[in-house]
Amino acid sequence: MDTPAPIKLSLQPLPGFRDFYPAEHAVRTYIFETWRRVCRSYAFAEYDGPMLEPEELYVKKSGGELVGQLFNFVDKGKRAVALRPEMTPTVARMLAVRDRDYKKPVKWFSIASFFRYEKQQDGRLREFCQLNCDLFGDRSTGGEAELLSLAIDLFRAFGLTAEDFHLRVNDRGVWDDFLGARGIAPERRPDFLQIIDKLEREPRAVSEPKLAEFSVSWEELQAFLAEPAPSFGPLIAELEARGLREFVRFDATIVRGLAYYTGLVFEVFAPAHGRALAGGGRYDDLIATLTDGAVSQHAFGFAVGDVVLEKVLRAVPHTRARLEESVRAASALDAYGVIADEARRPEALGLFAQLRAAGLRLDYPLAAAKVGKQFQAAEAAGARYAVVIGAEWPQVKLKTLATRTEEACAAEEVLARLGR
Ligand code: HAM
Repeated sequence: MDTPAPIKLSLQPLPGFRDFYPAEHAVRTYIFETWRRVCRSYAFAEYDGPMLEPEELYVKKSGGELVGQLFNFVDKGKRAVALRPEMTPTVARMLAVRDRDYKKPVKWFSIASFFRYEKQQDGRLREFCQLNCDLFGDRSTGGEAELLSLAIDLFRAFGLTAEDFHLRVNDRGVWDDFLGARGIAPERRPDFLQIIDKLEREPRAVSEPKLAEFSVSWEELQAFLAEPAPSFGPLIAELEARGLREFVRFDATIVRGLAYYTGLVFEVFAPAHGRALAGGGRYDDLIATLTDGAVSQHAFGFAVGDVVLEKVLRAVPHTRARLEESVRAASALDAYGVIADEARRPEALGLFAQLRAAGLRLDYPLAAAKVGKQFQAAEAAGARYAVVIGAEWPQVKLKTLATRTEEACAAEEVLARLGR
């Protein structure tokens, strides 16, 4: 067995991995909490699965580029395992095992980290987060429209508009018809779809010879792409009813790189960045394939990544302002305890403990400090109030830092005065 090259110890994380210092962590929390709020408003329930899975789950089920990007290894029990590169095979496995326990339709979401050994490029990391939303046991247009509408609302919730993003929607069936008419066998179709998936990123000189292997000329392909899109009438009507028509475009080049998609597929695209914010589709055969036919269930879902989303949010002025305000508000203190007389520290600690127990966010100096320094610390922490404990105990002073107004009150009234 090859001995792995030792990694030169560095203080930086590995390429494509991130440290989340408090400022970055607060942005991540803002994104996750917004995702959670919107998913719950659509009556989706949160779940999670293991971070490590049998490698086979992805080699057989995800297919495409993902297989070459696995973080895989043999564990001490000699199992071939992989860090999860995506959630779909895991959630399909979980649903298959307890299919009977859940009334359909099942609407589930999860927020988790994923690992792909990607080439270094803008917007792509080796560890990233995804929100996954999936609907099981439903094959209606209403269900598909519900998920597309959730995908749109997940971006609108950050203040993004139809100028910043849109959905590119297609049905893989379009290509089944195209390939079927040319006598191309179903088992060769995934390879063909890989060419279509890369059409936008690869030059014609690369795609053309690959198409020729399927006896499809460049001109023939362009003529097909120029044909009017198939009728998505009922889906459009559903989206129109929700006032969301402007967010959706139909585009035959959208096929998605993953092998398991069977019907409607889509991407959420940020034109200013030329990158996908999210992607998904229908995968009606995956559960039956995983269970050798024992369980069969309709499935439709998508995943949103955090990396491109954060870039877009920072690039659009009003979404950037909203992000910054939200991060500031999340870290601001309700009150800062100023200990003006060290002899009263024990009483001060008792009061601070009560205020914290009532849910206030409060900080105070851990060791004796000048009163002026304590007020500076209160301002720096963005505290709304300073609670000043001094020789007048059990009277205390409450100072509203924004207005610099001050009032005196009894220690037991502080909580009520702070609005709790
Ligand atoms: P995907 O298109 O591979 O689909 O990934 C979905 C989103 O995750 C992408 O649009 C992108 O925003 C983000 N993403 C993917 N790879 C990376 C990376 N290396 N770095 C940063 N962001 C990344 C899936 O994963 C499917 N399992 C989605 C799905 C759910 N289909 C049905 N249900």
